[in-house]
Amino acid sequence: MARTIGAPRGTRDLLPEATPAWDRVEAVARDLSRRYAFERVETPLFEQTDLFARGLGESSDAVEKEMFRVAGAKGSDEEAAPWALRPEPTAGIVRAFIEHGMHVRPGPLRLTLIGPMFRYDRPQAGRYRQFSQWDVEVIGDAGPAVDAELIELGQRFFTDVGLTDVVAHVNSIGDATCRPGYRDALIAYFAAQEERLSEDSRRRLRVNPLRVLDDKDLAPDLAAGAPRGVDHLCDECRAHFDGVRSLLDALGVRYEVDHRLVRGLDYYTRTAFEFYIAGREGQQQALGGGGRYDGLVELLGGRPTPGIGFGIGLDRTVLAMEEQGTMLPPQPALVAVLGASEDQARRLRVASALRDAGLAVRPDGSSRKLGKQLESGAKAGARWAVIVGDGDALALKDLASGEQRDQISLEDVVSAVSG
Ligand code: HAM
Repeated sequence: MARTIGAPRGTRDLLPEATPAWDRVEAVARDLSRRYAFERVETPLFEQTDLFARGLGESSDAVEKEMFRVAGAKGSDEEAAPWALRPEPTAGIVRAFIEHGMHVRPGPLRLTLIGPMFRYDRPQAGRYRQFSQWDVEVIGDAGPAVDAELIELGQRFFTDVGLTDVVAHVNSIGDATCRPGYRDALIAYFAAQEERLSEDSRRRLRVNPLRVLDDKDLAPDLAAGAPRGVDHLCDECRAHFDGVRSLLDALGVRYEVDHRLVRGLDYYTRTAFEFYIAGREGQQQALGGGGRYDGLVELLGGRPTPGIGFGIGLDRTVLAMEEQGTMLPPQPALVAVLGASEDQARRLRVASALRDAGLAVRPDGSSRKLGKQLESGAKAGARWAVIVGDGDALALKDLASGEQRDQISLEDVVSAVSG
């Protein structure tokens, strides 16, 4: 026998028993996208590596350690891997916004996509090399109302998929005016205790001191005493953050201010947020996250335009639903169409007519004994069996109760099964 080949490490096959939960989260995401007036976009799964290096920052984990490089064919000009699989969609969407001159459209633009992302990280539960996000972006609105609207939208998503106890963590990390002062304060504070920092944090301290705050190995007392972003905000950033908070209060959104929340990508300014199951805070646990990126469009070559968005991890959402035992809406009842006769055409015609009426139908095309066909229909999850006899006669068997009605018309089958 030939050696079998497995799926690549850090990827997963979603088998039929897993997909109803995925159908549910995707349906909720699409429905909310429509109700919140987001328009769908799609961008390539791979982009020029430079887009991510410039957009997400050279020192972000996604760029520094986790880039999934894509090479062209052997011997081609692209053999040296000028592309990378997208680790996240925001940079690609902003690239498309600039490339297609979308700033001339009536704004602010509200864009959304659902799709796979790729990060070459060490796989573990809830962390995969290929995972899916529901992403929303609003480009051209400086807030703070839209900031509150998006945080409320994220919360509504988790409620609608049936999760309980989701909390939004919210922070403001300032802008080009006040961030430098905050960075200096962090560097001064941590440099004085440098020997207590992890190797990663020591390396990062001078490049990106904010990231030291979300190092999971940071000693609790060091974390608690660290300068807080909110104490270093300039007047505009402070007014913006106060605005976001009072709007969240007015909307009744469940949130808490989290002074350690800094986000892992470099494009963020001002509002940053993440969603967690209460008590499950910590790296790798975030169900979703996002924030404002008021400098990104300009950084990627467009005219200065504010932006904000979030990405919700669908894999982690489904895992959390499994952990909480979230009920899924019942699947529509499946109907098996069986027949004792050899007349397969009649079985297919009856199946087709039932499908015209909107039912889900699984015909049995075999010439096995009726009992065997009933048995395999029930095993396949059918709730009803329609038995095609000779002539026009149909019988309807309720596979749950065993009750059977003979000599029943197609219309009566449809109303019995739909009722
Ligand atoms: P992010 O925080 O890097 O943000 O990712 C968003 C969510 O994707 C995470 O909260 C998590 O649920 C999920 N996720 C990330 N990495 C993995 C992984 N390796 N395996 C499974 N799930 C994962 C962004 O990607 C930003 N683009 C969000 C955004 C949009 N900001 C502004 N607009």
